[in-house]
Amino acid sequence: MRFLEIKPLTPEHLPDAVELDRLCFGGIWAIEGYRRELESPNSDLLGLWTWEGAGTHHPPPLQNRAGTHHPPPLQNRAGTHHPPPLQNRAGTHHPPPLQNRAGTHHPPPLLIGIGCLWAILEEAHIIMLAIHPQFQRQGLGQALLLALLKSAHDRQLERSTLEVRDSNLAAVSLYKKFGFKEAGRRKRYYEDTGEDALVMWRSGLEKPEFQQYLTVEKVQMCDRLHQKKWHWAIDNFEL
Ligand SMILES: CC(C)(COP(=O)(O)OP(=O)(O)OC[C@H]1O[C@@H](n2cnc3c(N)ncnc32)[C@H](O)[C@@H]1OP(=O)(O)O)[C@@H](O)C(=O)NCCC(=O)NCCS
Repeated sequence: MRFLEIKPLTPEHLPDAVELDRLCFGGIWAIEGYRRELESPNSDLLGLWTWEGAGTHHPPPLQNRAGTHHPPPLQNRAGTHHPPPLQNRAGTHHPPPLQNRAGTHHPPPLLIGIGCLWAILEEAHIIMLAIHPQFQRQGLGQALLLALLKSAHDRQLERSTLEVRDSNLAAVSLYKKFGFKEAGRRKRYYEDTGEDALVMWRSGLEKPEFQQYLTVEKVQMCDRLHQKKWHWAIDNFEL
């Protein structure tokens, strides 16, 4: 089964974020840029991960760059944490990789989406949204956008805004689907091509009916992902 999880990024995820940024945008931010976002209380930086599993909703442990495994984030059934892994004789931690029930190993979760918003006064500025090219057109971009809008609602922000390239039909169509309207353009905003940026706005985020809107959209989004054989990790994506 293919599982999905959306959650905030943490420092250990930043090398993967930079790699995804390079794939999707040609490299907007280096690792320092992502670190700044993690440190800012006004920034929500969300990631979307996938992994293969045999009937388990928990992700296998991340691998670090040396190829060794981070401690598993699993909880036991009583909701308490497993004891930390024992140290080996060299004093370093080497928890064994998790096995599924069939006894085979699964690769660690793969970061395939990233989204970021800045809370400025009562506005949510969506400054990044990207899905790995191999996973586009399956409903994952809208899942991540919904998660960002939910964060904005939780922060009691009133409206959301963003800038998008005039020629980026996929993104413009996605934003329009979620009620964003063109409010103007910034002439020759993008230095590399001299293209205009469309400025889009979506209002009403703080209203109680927006919560209902998110819930309805979430049901449709989950149906679509289910048809594509995606499954959410347990307890993830509470709207
Ligand atoms: C924009 C982006 C995030 C969309 O992600 P995605 O996972 O492919 O989008 P989804 O499958 O969730 O599609 C949701 C909606 O987006 C629009 N859309 C997505 N891809 C599209 C395409 N190639 N052409 C037209 N519309 C498209 C559609 O309205 C679609 O709804 P539909 O499937 O009911 O027609 C993705 O194309 C991407 O990462 N692009 C590169 C980075 C980027 O440009 N980000 C935006 C910067 S502001």
